[in-house]
Amino acid sequence: MTNDHISVNRGVWEADAKNWVALGERLWSSDPQWGIWNVPDSALRLLPDDLTGQDAIELGCGTGYVSGWLARRGARVTAIDVSAGQLTTARRLATENGAEINFLEGNAEATGLPDAAFDFAISEYGAAIWCRPEVWLREAWRLLRPGGQLVFLGNHPLLLVCTPMNGAPSDRVLHRSYRGMWGADWTEVEIDPSGVTFNLTMADWVALFREIGFAVENYHELYAPEGAKEAPPFVSLDWARDYPSEQVWVLRKPV
Ligand SMILES: C[S@@+](CC[C@H](N)C(=O)[O-])C[C@H]1O[C@@H](n2cnc3c(N)ncnc32)[C@H](O)[C@@H]1O
Repeated sequence: MTNDHISVNRGVWEADAKNWVALGERLWSSDPQWGIWNVPDSALRLLPDDLTGQDAIELGCGTGYVSGWLARRGARVTAIDVSAGQLTTARRLATENGAEINFLEGNAEATGLPDAAFDFAISEYGAAIWCRPEVWLREAWRLLRPGGQLVFLGNHPLLLVCTPMNGAPSDRVLHRSYRGMWGADWTEVEIDPSGVTFNLTMADWVALFREIGFAVENYHELYAPEGAKEAPPFVSLDWARDYPSEQVWVLRKPV
């Protein structure tokens, strides 16, 4: 495990940014839908219907389509990402879609933004998986006003346990220890190498939320939906019909 996950992940995303343009274009012009299975927001209700006059932040925004959805609902949106290449696409798509978003290049573990400046924070596969949970969650807490909400979506811990050590798609074998789960280095795997990602056991997520002070409002486990015909390279469709590949946490900073 490398200690320098931020610069490793920045390098990975700078190199990969061109491969995310088409998806970004599609999602900027879609209704809100989540994760690798495109679950409609009507099924999960992760976004408040009306964010008029509220301050929202996306942590690890990629091509910025989630920020676009927040802006459409009336929020003043700030979006941070560590990759300049991803932000170039995000800025172009915001302009083309008439969205005013304050895009910042930076690290979601240490944004440099003021305390208690936001009512709503979100990460879909951004800080949610690429940042150290014990660091970025404290940063999100600091950024939120009392009563503010944090929603994040990423890989389910079971996916990590069921992913072969060479990076092949998940299967029905336990390939690594669940106990002590924290980081996974994908930089040198044989199949589809990428960066350094983070996940925790269920008990450790809940313990961390409690330690920071977040209240858990909801939790979703997402499976491959009926009728799904394809899956991204790291998940086997057959596996994901029986095991959750994704999780969503909905948290609140109490008043
Ligand atoms: C998969 S994209 C997430 C955006 C979008 N929701 C999506 O799924 O395409 C992951 C993003 O996280 C960003 N990222 C990784 N580490 C980060 C960090 N420490 N701070 C901010 N952004 C980071 C990457 O640059 C990348 O744009």
